[in-house]
Amino acid sequence: MNVSPPIYLDNHATTRCDPRVVEAMLPFFGETYGNAASTTHAYGTLARRAVEDARERIAACLTLPAQSVYFTSGATESNNLAIQGYLRRWNRPGHIVATAIEHSSVLEPIEVMRSLGYDVTLLSPEQHDSPLAGRISPEAFLAAVRPDTVFASVGLANNEIGVIQPLRQIAEICRAKGIVLHTDATQAVGKIPLDFSELGADLISFSAHKLYGPKGIGALVVAKRTPPLRLTPMIFGGGHERGLRSGTLNVPGIVGFAAAVELCCHNLQAESDRIALMRDRLFDLLKSGLGEEIALNGPSWERPGLRLPGNLNIRFRRLDGETLLLHLPQLAMSSGSACSSATAKPSHVLLALGLSEPEARASIRIGLGRFNTEQEIPIAAAAIINATHKLVQSNAILG
Ligand SMILES: Cc1ncc(COP(=O)(O)O)c(C=O)c1O
Repeated sequence: MNVSPPIYLDNHATTRCDPRVVEAMLPFFGETYGNAASTTHAYGTLARRAVEDARERIAACLTLPAQSVYFTSGATESNNLAIQGYLRRWNRPGHIVATAIEHSSVLEPIEVMRSLGYDVTLLSPEQHDSPLAGRISPEAFLAAVRPDTVFASVGLANNEIGVIQPLRQIAEICRAKGIVLHTDATQAVGKIPLDFSELGADLISFSAHKLYGPKGIGALVVAKRTPPLRLTPMIFGGGHERGLRSGTLNVPGIVGFAAAVELCCHNLQAESDRIALMRDRLFDLLKSGLGEEIALNGPSWERPGLRLPGNLNIRFRRLDGETLLLHLPQLAMSSGSACSSATAKPSHVLLALGLSEPEARASIRIGLGRFNTEQEIPIAAAAIINATHKLVQSNAILG
């Protein structure tokens, strides 16, 4: 039996490692297997050189000084290090501003900081009936700032509704008020044009597996400031990464990370245009097949610049997202529930937009990426339309 694999439409969750990235990594599992800290012999020095070369290449793509890039195991660790590392070092009472639609790896460490005595304001985004749904306006951010605000965390692009935040304006506010700004840029790096030197954030997290690189490797950028930003490490040991993150460096991962970042940066505009075109065609087909049965979650279709090129988040009028996905084994997509918990909770992002629990549960997230083809789009659309019609009809018969 020849069963074709499901069409992958979950590129916000992870991306396929690009074969060119795998190829770049291979020698570092084989002949160049040294520990990058063992610089007393050729194996170690070759590994060290590869790490520093990768750091420089990543930094060059993102317009950063190489020494501001610290390697971690991924964005979860980078977010924890930025938030806990900065605030534990600060170690004085203060106020934190973040958004209610951050990833859990931002929200959870902020809750830890709250339990240690920090005051926290979680900003609500523009509501679902606004054309700017999901956006945090600089005015709303400014209104949340207090004289004792020391730290802010605003994700550059959201992993569910794809909304892109006005980070430069928020960074200007932070700069003027002396607030340290962290941004979780995990969904944005490699997807939209970015010049980190102009972004104005002090701490920036991102991860290789969201940009066609390997899993288990990420980075935290600590911007060069006067006086320097000081962070307490979260992991102690051999003093790797200039004492900020101990642990033997993942040399193949780091080499793959650099190859992945370069591939994204060198082809960014053409790739994001191609992906956005496929996304637009998919939405057009779904709209013409399903009409009022679906609505868009997140920024309005008339504001394409506010949404990541590969993102689509759709709400069904009369269906549960999980049920629909169960009837679509030929497509790999994600529902509007956080399935990491045993009781799949409705997405906190969709709830923060002002959607009800049933509306959040009636939503699915589609993430298109580099390896999707134009041919897959009508196939995916037809599958979603047919499954929706079938389920709506059987629901109607069942009563
Ligand atoms: C916005 C965002 N931040 C952080 C993470 C966590 O990244 P990692 O899997 O590298 O720990 C993810 C991935 O799900 C994400 O989408």
